[in-house]
Amino acid sequence: MSVRPIRIGVAGLGRMGRVHAENLAHRVPDVELTRVVDVVEETARAAGERLGAAWSTDVEELLRDPALDGVVIAGPTATHAPMIEQAAAHGKHVLCEKPLSLELDATVRAVQAARAAGIKLQMGFHRRFDPDWAAVAERIAAGELGEAYLLRISLRDQAPPGVEFLRGSGGIFVDVAIHALDAARWLLGEVEEVAAFGAATSDAVFAEIGDLDTAIVQLRFASGALGVIDASRVAGYGYESSAEVMGSRATLRLDNHRRTHVERLAPGASAKDRVGDFVERYRHAYLLELEAFADAIREDREPAVTGEDALAAFVLAQACDEALRERRTVQVPTSGAPQEARA
Ligand SMILES: NC(=O)c1ccc[n+]([C@@H]2O[C@H](COP(=O)([O-])OP(=O)(O)OC[C@H]3O[C@@H](n4cnc5c(N)ncnc54)[C@H](O)[C@@H]3O)[C@@H](O)[C@H]2O)c1
Repeated sequence: MSVRPIRIGVAGLGRMGRVHAENLAHRVPDVELTRVVDVVEETARAAGERLGAAWSTDVEELLRDPALDGVVIAGPTATHAPMIEQAAAHGKHVLCEKPLSLELDATVRAVQAARAAGIKLQMGFHRRFDPDWAAVAERIAAGELGEAYLLRISLRDQAPPGVEFLRGSGGIFVDVAIHALDAARWLLGEVEEVAAFGAATSDAVFAEIGDLDTAIVQLRFASGALGVIDASRVAGYGYESSAEVMGSRATLRLDNHRRTHVERLAPGASAKDRVGDFVERYRHAYLLELEAFADAIREDREPAVTGEDALAAFVLAQACDEALRERRTVQVPTSGAPQEARA
């Protein structure tokens, strides 16, 4: 039986938008990459021609297309919230890259606009779709760990993105650690207290633009468990994405991925290779999140990770900023989200 393809467009064709557009065009079953948009005409044209999709420099044109079911929003962070509101007005479902916004009000408005319009709003927290992280979540939910005592997540980029990106990123907590903050809530439930330390010692540019290159976050969950997240933009040796959840009956350890499983052994030393960045590490998860988005549209069900999850992770990231700035621990409402957004 033939299935009607879900027709999806991509807005923003930089690092992440290209990954999504290529996946939609070639790898996601029963999906059609219908349109691509970028404000840079040459970028839009090149992607459209290469991937066999209509292209333009105008998101409004994409959203007006009656044939389109949904859009992947992958432009700079400042464009996400207004685009979600535009998509909601046109009744188009959204998969939005993280973070949803750098402003609490704009985040709340976008989440509410999506709910009011009845569109699906899935957030690009791709760890939720990664088979390793999903296995950890399933085992915790099945009670294999007993009582969870401690969560440790390391999230380190080998090298920072360009200065222009850094300027608009919102800083290490909302841009980088937010993936770990979402994973923490997903695995062990709501967080009620955070503390944070940060440093910017690798390059003067971080201090100039008010960002950090290295940070540590401590979490206290409502369950009583503790958590620690370390995040870096300058790991140098490679991309690190690892975690541990220690419990009363068992501990789960989620290791880094390796490019190959070949180990070089020489006198007194051995060496293993490792993945270089998030695109390489999470190649499969980026594909699975798009499949899940198309399934949510096709089957008319709630996405596995929603706008409310984006809001809750953002509130935690803001609490980290506050904790660092004010050199104190910060209490977070146990819902992880302000009251008005949950109404
Ligand atoms: N999930 C992840 O692992 C992950 C990884 C990296 C980045 N991100 C997020 O993805 C988003 C994009 O990051 P990136 O690294 O791809 O950025 P990027 O700078 O590489 O690309 C952004 C693209 O958007 C285009 N653009 C700018 N304004 C636009 C507009 N109004 N409409 C359409 N296109 C517009 C730019 O021309 C550029 O091509 C950011 O929010 C970032 O936080 C997520």
